[in-house]
Amino acid sequence: MKIVIGSDHAGYELKEHLKKAVKELGYDIEDKGTDNPDVSVDYPKFAESVAKEVANGKGKLGVLVCGTGMGVSIAANKVKGARAAVVYNEATAKLAREHNNANIICLGGRELSKEQGKKFVKLFIETPFSEDERHKRRIKEISDLEK
Ligand code: RB5
Repeated sequence: MKIVIGSDHAGYELKEHLKKAVKELGYDIEDKGTDNPDVSVDYPKFAESVAKEVANGKGKLGVLVCGTGMGVSIAANKVKGARAAVVYNEATAKLAREHNNANIICLGGRELSKEQGKKFVKLFIETPFSEDERHKRRIKEISDLEK
């Protein structure tokens, strides 16, 4: 199972930490950049790159990191099929999967510790969608908005 990861300069440090953590959990990682924390870059292109790889099914889930998690989330959600959720505690890490069937976790590199980031990503990856009818219906209503 491949996890696709990306960040801007503000998320680079947490991204590098999460790459190791995700590999330790036994998943393959594809890193879409950025590769240099000292160069300021625009987060939408990294969000697009991760979101497209997840939406086309080549990546199972995505991890995006910027300063707050919000910019990458807003950008990723413009890609059809992406459901990117800003996660900021253990409950949102689980509920993003259980209720929203989110396929991309968005984290704030300037807001979270490395340990928090690792814990949230592990929970996100390991929590399945609930498959409850009411949640399925709502996910379909979201997909319908893309038409
Ligand atoms: C970059 O300074 C910062 O604006 C960006 O990483 C992100 O937090 C935007 O949402």
